[in-house]
Amino acid sequence: MTKAQHDRPAQHDRPVQHDRPVPDRQRTAMRLLVSSAHRSYDPAADLDWAAELDPDLPYLPLHRVSLYGTELWRGLSRQQQVELSKHELASLMQVGLWFELILMQMLLRYAYDLDLRLPHSQYALTEIGDETRHSVMFARAAEKLGTPHYRAPRRVHNLGRLYKATAGGPAMFAPVLVAEEILDRLQREAMADEAVQPLVRGINQIHVVEEARHVRYAREELVRMMPLLSRGQLHRQRAVVAVVSYLLADSLIDPAVYRSVGIAPSVGRAAALANPHHQASRRWMAGKIMPFLRQVGIVGGPSEALYRKAFLI
Ligand SMILES: [Fe+2]
Ligand SMILES: [Fe+2]
Repeated sequence: MTKAQHDRPAQHDRPVQHDRPVPDRQRTAMRLLVSSAHRSYDPAADLDWAAELDPDLPYLPLHRVSLYGTELWRGLSRQQQVELSKHELASLMQVGLWFELILMQMLLRYAYDLDLRLPHSQYALTEIGDETRHSVMFARAAEKLGTPHYRAPRRVHNLGRLYKATAGGPAMFAPVLVAEEILDRLQREAMADEAVQPLVRGINQIHVVEEARHVRYAREELVRMMPLLSRGQLHRQRAVVAVVSYLLADSLIDPAVYRSVGIAPSVGRAAALANPHHQASRRWMAGKIMPFLRQVGIVGGPSEALYRKAFLI
């Protein structure tokens, strides 16, 4: 076997190609740059930060709160259920923000090697601009909610240091898509729900519009990259993507949120992980991105077990 044959993906591992050819990356980037110029937000000016929060309105659709449907949930008053939704949203925003910081560093490293005269490179910088505004928006919202500093576990936070400093190729784009698309699904539902706090719906609306461009950029780039991987690279990249996706999904709700309603963090976390409603919510959140990742071939093989453990499939 020649080296070229050896490095080629094995037949059973070969990523499935899309029916339609993926568009040229510069044409896509030009469209995304035009769209960014026409439809971008300044959360500092475009949201009413001074408006009072309504004490009766939840911060997430209540059926998406991690304990919904459990014995513990039935033991909470309506006011406590709303309070828990506030703390879970604060955790989702702050852990999401943490992943945006990771993404910004990876995009900056990605742009470092590109010809910045080209639209594709300029869009990477434009996306960093979007994410800086999002991160300030989420941070400011968490401050307004008056909730604690929720975050990923310390060891995951430190692994993030290694990941953001080294990841490239599909191992960079695929976990970013998992983060963006699972939160996007939740945000779309909440933004359409008139029972949810108006400030939260406004935040979600801004994020959904701008993330749609990021998703397009990353999805197409992933499709372009996958056929270029050797078999060895494919296995390694699948493993990294599975580990990062698992840790991200597992970290979205800081167990400390349960203290807000008098439940011990370990008890709340165990109940949430065993809760069929919560497991179904996670699968629903991942319902658009996982079939895509499987189709392009970055999900497959032994590392799939981690997605099941994270209730993403
Ligand atoms: Fe974002
Ligand atoms: Fe994004």
